[in-house]
Formats: sequence, C-alpha cells, structure tokens
Amino acid sequence: MDLSIDKFRAVDEFLCDTLVGRDAALEHALQTSAAADLPAIAVAPNQGKLLHVFAKSIGAKRILEIGTLGGYSTIWLARAIAEQPGAKLITLEYEPKHAEIATKNIANAGLSKVVEVIVGAALDSLPKLIAQNAGPFDLVFIDADKVNTPRYFEFALKLTRRGGLIIVDNVVRSGNIVDQSSTDSGVKGTREFLTAAAKNPAVTVTAVQTVGSKGYDGFAIAVVN
Ligand code: SAH
Ligand code: DHB
Ligand code: MG
Repeated sequence: MDLSIDKFRAVDEFLCDTLVGRDAALEHALQTSAAADLPAIAVAPNQGKLLHVFAKSIGAKRILEIGTLGGYSTIWLARAIAEQPGAKLITLEYEPKHAEIATKNIANAGLSKVVEVIVGAALDSLPKLIAQNAGPFDLVFIDADKVNTPRYFEFALKLTRRGGLIIVDNVVRSGNIVDQSSTDSGVKGTREFLTAAAKNPAVTVTAVQTVGSKGYDGFAIAVVN
C-alpha cells in the first residue's frame, strides 16, 4: 500500500480540483496572505468546504471563529450563513496585520456585512462577548494559539447553543499528541483539551486524523448536549 506524503498530496489536489475548483475570492485571500508573509497555515480548500458543510448542515446563522489569519476559513464559514436573515460571523484575531488583511479579503468576497473582525487576544475578547450577550452561536471554530485551546473551549461552551457545534483544528500535529511527555505547549494544550472535553457531559465529542496538502493533522468536533 502506498501511504506516501506524495500520494496524500496528489489525492488532496484531485479532491480540491474536483470538489472546490477555482474560486476568485478564496484564491485572492491566499495570494494576499502569502504576499504579506503570513504563515501558510489556513485550512486546505477541502477542509474549508468541510467547515462550510458543517455550518450548512445545522442551519447555522451565527458563527464565532477564534483565529482569523487572512480570512480564508472565515470566508468559507461566512458563505454558509450569508443568505440567512440575521447572519453574523464574529472572528477573533490577535495580530493587527492579519486582521487588516483578513478584513480586506472579507470585503473582496462581498462578506463585510456578515463578518466582524475583532482585534486582540481572544482571552480578552471572549469575556467581553459574554458580557455583551453576543451569544448564543450555532458553531464555534477554534483555530488560534493551541496552548489556549482548553480555555477557548470553555468559553465556546458558554457561547454555543444546544445542538451547536464546536470544531477544533490541529488536534494531531503530525502525531505529536500521543507523546505524553511532550514539552511543546501546543501539544500539551491539545492533550488537555481532548481529555477535558471527553469527560465533559455538556458535549458529545470525537476527533479524526487528516492527511493531505496540510500534512498530517486532525480536528475535533463536539456537539453541545
Ligand atoms: N483559521 C485560519 C487560520 C488561523 S491561524 C484559517 O484556517 O484560514 C491562527 C491565527 O490565530 C493566527 O492568525 C494568529 O495570529 C492567531 N492567534 C494567535 N494567538 C492568538 C490569540 N491569543 N488570540 C487571537 N488570535 C490569535
Ligand atoms: C499552525 C496553526 C494552525 O492553525 C494550523 O492550521 C497549522 C499550523 C501552527 O501554529 O503551526
Ligand atoms: Mg489551523
């Protein structure tokens, strides 16, 4: 059996060409991000579409994203709700430069009315959202600094409706999460999140490994009980 990285990449290319194709606004978001030297860590096209499918499948109208980068995943998620009355996506980003590029990319995608980018540390913005009664959200996508994933998940639980989804990116990190003695703060944060979520009766949660153009990683998905 050919389990090479080349094969995974080739399959991802085929899936993305077949299922996603060329999309001017999404490609623009990736191009402007690369031109501004943002890290190339946005979700893959087929993963972005997976987020879109999840949002559509629950009839989401209100989405919270933690970790905007250049707005690539934001555009995928916002498009899933844009036709709904009262559609709103709030996305939290620490780096002003990332937020500025994302804001332009979101405008270029025609989604400015739906999306609000909030600049600052998510651990500062999240309590404010709670104080402002910004919830409940139908879907929360956690994709920021992995060390804080357990804290973001706790906030997400407070901000997500029953039946809503909490999706967490990068929970496998090339398989490093099985290393119990890892000193990597991201690995430790992810292990802590998975362990706590599994024990939490407020959610039903699972996680899957992924391979492809973004290497070997995975995501967790929880539904609020
Ligand atoms: N969701 C994006 C990728 C996000 S990359 C996509 O798939 O297209 C992670 C982002 O989280 C980076 O832009 C990084 O600046 C941001 N980030 C890191 N620490 C953060 C924090 N404390 N609060 C908010 N955002 C943070
Ligand atoms: C990293 C962060 C991400 O959100 C991602 O999807 C891939 C990598 C990182 O910080 O290395
Ligand atoms: Mg990610």
